[in-house]
Amino acid sequence: MSTNPPSTSSGKKRILTGDTPTSTGLHLGHYVGSLENRLKLQDEYDCYFLIANVHAFTTLAEKPADIRANTLGIVKDWLAVGLDPQRSTFVLQSEIPAIAELTFLFAMLIPFNKVMRNPTLKTEIETKGLGDSYPFGFPMYAVGQCADILTFRPELVPVGEDQEAHIEMCRDVALKFNQVYCGVGNRVPADEHEKAGGVFPVPKAKIGRIARLVGTDGKNKMSKSLNNAIFLYDDAKAVQKKINGIKTDRPTITSPLPEGNALAQYIDAFLPQQRAEEIKAMYASGKEVMDGHIKAEVGAAINALIEPMRARRAELETPTGEEKVLGVIRDGIRKANAVAEETLHLAKKAMGLDFGKRVVG
Ligand code: TRP
Repeated sequence: MSTNPPSTSSGKKRILTGDTPTSTGLHLGHYVGSLENRLKLQDEYDCYFLIANVHAFTTLAEKPADIRANTLGIVKDWLAVGLDPQRSTFVLQSEIPAIAELTFLFAMLIPFNKVMRNPTLKTEIETKGLGDSYPFGFPMYAVGQCADILTFRPELVPVGEDQEAHIEMCRDVALKFNQVYCGVGNRVPADEHEKAGGVFPVPKAKIGRIARLVGTDGKNKMSKSLNNAIFLYDDAKAVQKKINGIKTDRPTITSPLPEGNALAQYIDAFLPQQRAEEIKAMYASGKEVMDGHIKAEVGAAINALIEPMRARRAELETPTGEEKVLGVIRDGIRKANAVAEETLHLAKKAMGLDFGKRVVG
């Protein structure tokens, strides 16, 4: 029997996910890889969306003003896309003391070498060219991410493929904590840890519909720095121009569309399934297909999808918009700390650290 309170007062299961404010300005890759997933989950789950602003200091410690601007930018992006602070909780990491405290406590349960072997960290060190000059806090953020997640005791963590190693580490921490401090047996399956008296459910990663959206160059993953992205706030003309620029590599107008071509992937990602099948069959049939017509159709579908987001984002770029964003952040902090403090209390009690209770507003 669990001694824990039910996951939430609403009885809904929880999810947590987040973004690091190293930049702002979302693109279609973010949308199909993650945001779309979050939008769907908002009704079914009690959702926590975290802005990992402390983690942004791992690479931008000397640019605090950028981090602040990016933080506000991310909240605007979220609101524009349709994440709803009434239904979901926006969590500003730097204002949730329980996360910092659990990070330190969890760091005792993970072997140092295991952190340093984390493949997500290794890839980041390479792609960001951090060499061997990164700060101590850089690998520490992987431990911090375990705390980000477990503080909210979620069942699911919707993330992109690149975050899987972090979720795996988080699962290891939850298992170890429950075994060491809550008397959960070594053989109890992960899914049953909470029932067996563990403080932490062992969360699972949930990967988005399209794990990797190719950029308009047809070669690399869509990314701001590679100049191959369609941003959610590009105007309609710019979107169509970028789509028109995609190379289809067909020798003639009766040649098939190469598998994995950017246009092929966008047909699948942005047109209704039935229409996508129809177009793919047309390309495969050896009949004449004009790429220009298909590009116009894909461009129009993308524009229809992002038009409401563009409009909402523009509204938030005003002084009243800015006030609204700050209000959303303040409300989120309050809601998040209520849950975070409850978790911290349960964890400290399990560890024999229940010497006093405090109130965090
Ligand atoms: N590291 C994640 C990223 O860069 C952001 C993040 C921080 C996160 N804490 C999290 C994602 C907790 C999911 C859960 O994308």
